[in-house]
Amino acid sequence: MKLWAGRFTKATDALTDHFNSSLSFDYRLYNEDITGSVAHVKMLAKQGILTDEECQTIEQGLLEILQDIDGGKIDLMQDSEDIHMLIETLLTNRIGDVGKKLHTGRSRNDQVALDMRLYLRKNIKEIQSLIVDLLNAIYNLATEHTTTFMPGYTHLQRAQPVTFAHHLMAYFEMFKRDYKRFDFCYDMTNCLPLGSGALATTTYPLDRDYVKELLKFDAICENSLDAVSDRDFCVDFLYAASQMMMHLSRFSEEIIIYNSHEFKFIELDDAFSTGSSIMPQKKNPDIAELVRGKTGRCYGNLLALLTTLKGLPLAYNKDMQEDKEAVFDSLDTISLCLPIFTNMLKTITINKETMYKAAASGFTNATDAADYLVKKGVAFRDAHHIVGQLVLFCTTNNLTLETLSLQQYQDISPVFTDDIYQAISIATCVNERNVTGGPSPEAVKRHLSKAKQFIERCS
Ligand code: ARG
Repeated sequence: MKLWAGRFTKATDALTDHFNSSLSFDYRLYNEDITGSVAHVKMLAKQGILTDEECQTIEQGLLEILQDIDGGKIDLMQDSEDIHMLIETLLTNRIGDVGKKLHTGRSRNDQVALDMRLYLRKNIKEIQSLIVDLLNAIYNLATEHTTTFMPGYTHLQRAQPVTFAHHLMAYFEMFKRDYKRFDFCYDMTNCLPLGSGALATTTYPLDRDYVKELLKFDAICENSLDAVSDRDFCVDFLYAASQMMMHLSRFSEEIIIYNSHEFKFIELDDAFSTGSSIMPQKKNPDIAELVRGKTGRCYGNLLALLTTLKGLPLAYNKDMQEDKEAVFDSLDTISLCLPIFTNMLKTITINKETMYKAAASGFTNATDAADYLVKKGVAFRDAHHIVGQLVLFCTTNNLTLETLSLQQYQDISPVFTDDIYQAISIATCVNERNVTGGPSPEAVKRHLSKAKQFIERCS
């Protein structure tokens, strides 16, 4: 019989039960549900609402159930509406009528909000530690490549030379922000909803501060209607996950391109590549492609929950049960993508020669040739035009700025002297860009030392 069946005259339709039940996915809240219930009964005893003996019996019963679930002794796939109902039923079956007192002064509405907050709080920390692993891998690779030159791109056209370390450290910044975004998410999550009851608290003299201390929350949700209907913290989580996946996806895309035969900047380790069932020569970047692909489902989860919530009146509505699959799916997705991506990154081979050759062709030093003229007194717009003519000359004659003779330079502008070759060497172009945030080995080393401090603060 259902725990709420008192006012009903008929059993629910089987399909209704199936449709209504969240147990198939919320079973994973069992630990948080029990942790929350133990704190709740302790508070009830402290307030004299339950006796100490009742409290102890309930607590012990709950902890034994926890142990049995952890030990695989209880099948959670039972005929129950959700994990909250199931645990309460298991408890009463085990300890008898006193188990029926557990739900005093509480509703599933504040209970489920609590469970989700406890669950996310724990998992946000785990995600953050996976992000730190990735930051470390990026940092380590970057320290090895502060003098590895490569073309920087705009419009996927070679633009100006940078270093591979500089390129990698762009991703460091993105994942650093992601880490901080999860900090924000953690703060939003770390607030106690229990005590809000179904929507309007309760007439029992609950001590919410005591529960807050027991469960180590930073704050108490200040409004009961809000507390049971707030899923902002879930949306924040889904958004933080989406941003992070967007970054991982861009990184994946570059790995796929750079690993292609056309670029050959990097080579993926065999352990992180797959073959083709028909083409024997293939070594495919499936891992990076899957990470890129899974970004879509994370965006979907975010949009799904935002849409679910948009028309809901206060306070709790069953629609909100839909938060779980979205949150769990994004959580599972990022928990998988982060470590595999990190391991893939740790094992890639960098083809410095090819990167250098690409940086040294494609006129990535054309801006520097124009700047050279500017430093000799030519207005930038005129300098731009002169170098444009040089580039045109080179492309029609299959030359590069490095291989043009001084005479050919001077035919277009007499301002050029033989120091032009030094001025447009790839090393000069990169080393001179020493502005904070720039690609020069020195600038990147300054960035790396700040990055190391960030990693140390987070570890
Ligand atoms: N399974 C429900 C959920 O996930 C728990 C809360 C149900 N509350 C209720 N009054 N029906 O949202």
